[in-house]
Amino acid sequence: MIDFHTHILPHLDDGAKDTAMAKAMLEAECKQGVTDVLFTPHYYGRKHSPARFLEKRNEAWAHLKPNVPEGLTVHLGAEVHFTGVNVPDYDELCKLSIADTKYILIEFPFTNKWTHDLLEQLGDFVYETGYTPIIAHVERYREVLSRPAYLTELIDMGCLLQVNASAFEMKREKRLALALLKRGWIHCIGTDAHDMGVRKPNFSVAKAAMQEAGFGESWDKIQATMQAILRGEEVKPQMDKPIKKFLGKYI
Ligand SMILES: [Fe+2]
Repeated sequence: MIDFHTHILPHLDDGAKDTAMAKAMLEAECKQGVTDVLFTPHYYGRKHSPARFLEKRNEAWAHLKPNVPEGLTVHLGAEVHFTGVNVPDYDELCKLSIADTKYILIEFPFTNKWTHDLLEQLGDFVYETGYTPIIAHVERYREVLSRPAYLTELIDMGCLLQVNASAFEMKREKRLALALLKRGWIHCIGTDAHDMGVRKPNFSVAKAAMQEAGFGESWDKIQATMQAILRGEEVKPQMDKPIKKFLGKYI
């Protein structure tokens, strides 16, 4: 089982604050049957170039490595904040890919409105580099919740979609997640764990909710898709009818 989105590497972002917390988070992952964890520290590009960020990430990883429980495999990546403005050189940006594959975890703005330029800029990145963006926790954006048609545009561009396990604990987000599952549009799932408190690694709710809703097979399919991504294999999203918001539901 793979946790595709975590903030476990200490001292890089607002995730684990020290080695002890990181160790506790990794142990919690193991207890839930997780075999592979992807470290995705935030990259905002405000303070550091991608190259400097990677130096810092590698230092943090070297420090934490001896504390990884046996049987758990760690993969390195980043959660790259993408606003479409001041975008680093594409070659530099590609260095932030997931486990040296041609997939990159992209976080879109939460507060700013998504503009045509933003999507166009991401499309340009895809066209120029051939890299595949995986859009982080799509259920968390206000823009997506109010206008789910954005997801069709992203799928059309070739993007893959990641959902947080916690989506299944929230009413509106769960409705969107189920609509995504119907279309096979959850390609990756992660805990987005930041600590051992309210944002602890917690897969169990998501897995149980998916099984209860009749999507038990989707869980296995998503896990297989994430494995393929980590192996660097090609994964293409399948187009389907757009998700519509209707009377507070997603259909
Ligand atoms: Fe995150």
